[in-house]
Order: sequence, then C-alpha cells, then structure tokens
Amino acid sequence: MRGLFKDEMVVEEKLSRGEDPKIYEVYEVPQQPLSGLLSLGCTFIYPGKVGDEYYFTKGHFHEKEGASEVYIGLEGEGIILMQSRSGETRHLKITPNVVVYISPGFAHRTINVGASRLVFLSIYPSDAGHDYESIAETGFAKLVLESGGSPMVVDNPSYSERA
Ligand code: PA5
Ligand code: MN
Repeated sequence: MRGLFKDEMVVEEKLSRGEDPKIYEVYEVPQQPLSGLLSLGCTFIYPGKVGDEYYFTKGHFHEKEGASEVYIGLEGEGIILMQSRSGETRHLKITPNVVVYISPGFAHRTINVGASRLVFLSIYPSDAGHDYESIAETGFAKLVLESGGSPMVVDNPSYSERA
C-alpha cells in the first residue's frame, strides 16, 4: 500500500493497526519472452478503498514502445486509466465481456470501482516487458475516487507538482 495511494496518513494508520490487506493478485501462464508469442494473465482486484480512493493496480508502461495489450472483463466493475509519456490521458470502463484495447505507448492502471472483486484477462506480446519506474516517477495524472457513492475520475493534484 505504501507510496501508491494519495492518503499516505490513512495508509500509515491502517498499517499501524496491523491492516495490510491484499489489494490484487495476478496469475500468469508461463511464457518465454519471444517475438510473436503472446502472454496471458488474469488479474483479481479485491474491493476496497484507502480513504475515498478505490483499490488499483500499480500500473506500468511496456518497455517495448510498440507493444499494445488487450483486456477482457470477466467479473465486476472497473475503470482503466491510460496515459502516454507526453501526458495524454484516456479512461474506459471494464465490465464483464467488455474488451479494452491499450494502445502502444500508454501506461495502464486498473481500478476496482465495484463492491465485489474485479477480474479481467490480459493478453500481450510476451516480449513487451514491464516498466514500472517511469510512471511511478510522475504518478498518474488522474485519480479514481468515490464521491457520493459513485466513482469519479479527477485530476491528481500531486501530478502537476511532480511532472
Ligand atoms: O499485463 C498487464 O497489464 C496486466 O496483467 C497487469 O500486469 C496486472 O493487471 C497487474 O498490474 P501491474 O502489473 O501494473 O501491477
Ligand atoms: Mn500491461
């Protein structure tokens, strides 16, 4: 939880109470990182929030700039945030049977905005590589927060400070 959610105080309070819940898990079919091969993963994001911020995945760019990805929703309700290296942002809903295309060059993070687990499949070139550092440096430009019982995509106030 540390270093990812906006409310660092809430995170520290939870940790000091011994609360360190599992936020998400990823199961991957083992695959060699070779051109032409596809990798398949299944992500489970559990329902929950830190303050008003829904649980989400860490998020990454692909190391290989030309590598795109497809997500297929299986269970639950989510939002995918996408962000290019120049700061262009997009977001899309992911629900069962929805197919989301993640364009090359866009970092991606998935947020569970529902009351039950969010489950989706991911299919991507097995040599795509994962670059977590670049997006961790700037953060995502958008946050997904609960407001009046519904999810809202809002500007991340910390993003402009760091970018
Ligand atoms: O390939 C993907 O993009 C997904 O399988 C993600 O890796 C998964 O959802 C977990 O997110 P992250 O890798 O950002 O922790
Ligand atoms: Mn990916």
